[in-house]
Amino acid sequence: MNTLLESPRNKAVARFAQLLASDKRYKILEAHIKKFQHRQDALIEVLHKAQELFGYLEDDVLRYTAAQLKLPASRVYGVATFYHFFTLKPQGEHNCVVCMGTACYVKGADKILAAVEASAHIKAGETTPDNKLSLLTARCIGACGIAPAVVYDGTVTPRQTPETALAQINQWVTP
Ligand code: FES
Repeated sequence: MNTLLESPRNKAVARFAQLLASDKRYKILEAHIKKFQHRQDALIEVLHKAQELFGYLEDDVLRYTAAQLKLPASRVYGVATFYHFFTLKPQGEHNCVVCMGTACYVKGADKILAAVEASAHIKAGETTPDNKLSLLTARCIGACGIAPAVVYDGTVTPRQTPETALAQINQWVTP
């Protein structure tokens, strides 16, 4: 067995390549990190962007950020857990992230958000009292070509309308 190929570092590199290929949000995060020239002092800005894209800071995102900024994962976890505005877990059982970036907005994202808020009786940033649904917004999730886009439990879904959004979230919450 080639132990070099099996090293934790190589496994991490392979995992990140897989994430970049399968989830556009990592590409946006990568571009954001590049904008900051991989500067370690941009950690908080990068985590903000990551939370905006993903709704919360999942394990892979924290590890990816650590690798990109060449920081120990412990440092990134430390910062993410220290500040109350970062959350490491989706609060609700399900989450719905409505993209409110320009391309989505001009195609009616505000109407989608309003419909979900009215139906679930929560505002963006809130979770239903039964913990079934967390509703979040993002500025651009990198899917402008299929605007308006909504992310349901991590799945970027194209060309949404208030009706399609309600059909999805009403499976999770009782209107
Ligand atoms: S503005 Fe919504 S995906 Fe870009």
